[in-house]
Order: sequence, then C-alpha cells, then structure tokens
Amino acid sequence: MSDIDSVDIIDNGAAVAVRFGDGRRARFHAAWLRDNATDAATRSPGNGQRLVTLTDIPPDTTIERAEAGAETVSIRFAPDGKTVDFAAPYLIAGIYDRESDRAAGWVDGGIETWDGSLDAGLAVASFDAVREDRESLGRWLALVRRLGFAALSGGPIASGALCDVVALFGFVRETHYGRWFEVVSEVAPVNLAYTNAGLQAHTDNPYRDPVPTLQVLYCLRNSADGGDSLLVDGFRAAARLRDENPAWFDLLSSHCARFEYAGSPGVKLRARRPMIELAPDGELVAVRFNNRSAAPITDVPYDKMADYYRAYRRFAEVIDDPAMAVTLKLEPGECFIVDNTRVLHGRRAYSGAGTRHLQGCYADRDGLLSTLAAIEDQRGERFP
Ligand code: FE2
Repeated sequence: MSDIDSVDIIDNGAAVAVRFGDGRRARFHAAWLRDNATDAATRSPGNGQRLVTLTDIPPDTTIERAEAGAETVSIRFAPDGKTVDFAAPYLIAGIYDRESDRAAGWVDGGIETWDGSLDAGLAVASFDAVREDRESLGRWLALVRRLGFAALSGGPIASGALCDVVALFGFVRETHYGRWFEVVSEVAPVNLAYTNAGLQAHTDNPYRDPVPTLQVLYCLRNSADGGDSLLVDGFRAAARLRDENPAWFDLLSSHCARFEYAGSPGVKLRARRPMIELAPDGELVAVRFNNRSAAPITDVPYDKMADYYRAYRRFAEVIDDPAMAVTLKLEPGECFIVDNTRVLHGRRAYSGAGTRHLQGCYADRDGLLSTLAAIEDQRGERFP
C-alpha cells in the first residue's frame, strides 16, 4: 500500500484533494501548500526556519500540476513554476480539512482531567531515577502534561534543592520573591489548641502577566499534624461549572477579572485576565483563582455583575468541594510540581506541635514541554 492514493486539482487550481493510502481524504489550499513548502529555498535545512515571508509568495499562487508518488505529492505552482514534493506524513500532520465540533472549554486530547478519586501515588517518581535516566524523566514530565502535576520522592534535604528539580527540564523563573521563597509555619507546643488555618486552593501570582506557568514546592521539614497539601484540577472545576450552568461558565470566561499585589516595597503588580481563559476557538487554556490577590472587578457590565458573582461563588464552591481535591503529605526530600495555569494548590488546616518548612519556586511550562518533546523525539514515541 502506498502512502498516497490519489491527488486531484480542484477549484481551478485553488486547492488539491488528496486521498491517502489509509483512506483519509483532505483538501489543501495552494497558498497553504506554497507557504509550507519544505524545499531548501523555503525552509532552512539546518534549523527548519522559514526563509521567505508571505509577501515573497505571489498573491495569485495556484496549483498547475499535482502528481501522486508512492510517498509524496508533487506540486507545481503557478505563476512562478516552482515544483515542491510534500511527504505524506508531513501532509497528514498538517491536515486542517475537518469539521469543528468543539464546545467552549475543550481541552487537548493529551490532557486527562481528574478529581479527588485520582490515585496521586501514580504521579510520584524517584528523584534519583528522573535525574539519572532520560526515559524516567520523560515519563515524569509527561505526567505534568497530562495531569497538570507530578511529585518526586527521595530528594536531598537541602536548601535550594528545588532548583535542581527545575534544572532537570528548564530554568527557574526569578521574581521579586527571589530565586525561591520560604514557606515556614510553626505551631508552638504551648499552643496545642491552636489550629493553623487551611489555605483555599488557588493559583499563584495571577497578578503577573505572563503568570509563572509552573511552581515547585519542596519539603525540607514537616513535623506538624496535618497541613497536607491539596491539589484541585482547575480544568475539571471549569468543566463542572460549564456542565452545571453554561451561562455562568460564559460569564467567567468572557469577562476579565483583575488581580493585584502591592505587598512589598517598590512592587505594584497588576493583571487583567479572566478567571477561566479560553483561546479564540474555545480551548480552555488557563484558570486563575486567588482570593487573596483578587482586585475589584470593573470589567463586568452592571447588568451582568450580579450573575457574575453567582458564577464566581459557584466556581469557588466547586473548587472547595472536598471531592475535587487530591491530598499530598510531603515528607522531607519530597516535592511536587504543578502547572500553575491549571492546577490549584492549597493546604489543609493543621494543629498540634511541629514545624512545616517548604521552599517554593517558579519555572516555565514551555521549557518543560520542550524537554519532554525532545526526549520523545529521540525515543520515537510519545509518552501517555
Ligand atoms: Fe500558593
């Protein structure tokens, strides 16, 4: 079986219709094909970067000849007479000729949303394994892509070790909090009755634009009772809100909230973004939720504000629902990484004597996904 079955010029040369060996059919426009030509004059053979601009290509480009080879489609363009061969896998990867049946809030097929029934133990790897073995590292990074979080155990109990975790895939993103920050809570023995308040699940730094897309929280000491970390999948929470009340989902996704932080000298951070952020085609791209840094919302019309607040309250209730949360009790030398555009983190209340000392830092998801893609490229297969 050849990769290409047939190719036909359609619409007077404005496009071709390709039938692939596996039965798939797709149309491609002349302008799309010419812009995405893979010949050495159009794309650098070294780094794959495009060497021409769109305005270098004649605006009246059409297809004057199309031939099906066993593994390629050969196209001759008019008016410049240029002939380019397109490999079948390249065309298949570029197929855009399909009906769109995506509802607002759709997520990429590689994402798996979850609630409290998820076994978080499945998302834990050993620090030594991911440091020494690229395959283990890839499998661990793929958890972050799929679930929005992953944990490590058996790391060193040393200040700054969280930076070594980030160095496995990318770079620490420094902020005014420093390269990393301390999260220390002490409960004095004399205050046994004292209960340290829990912390509502939130995303960090929504007042930054761009927001830090990853956070690492690393445990150095944890002798307190309780105080477990909890994680909530913001994408699942958004989907639940949408399923319960699509109008409320629309209110939160089509209006900007405001966030600000001015708690340190010389710092006045502000961002205007929706709590549920969609791409123009409805893809769910980010959730921002943080009661402590929410600023007055001034971008919702008067007529809609009452309903906006109902939607906001319901979204908060869904996030607070214990059935949504996965609990992680971090021991010294253990850490987790969260996708801060998706997974909210918080802390359960804790009581009794003890100290809890975590260090946190930020990093960026594009670097993590790049490292993961490079590992997958090398092994020739995608991790689940
Ligand atoms: Fe936080």
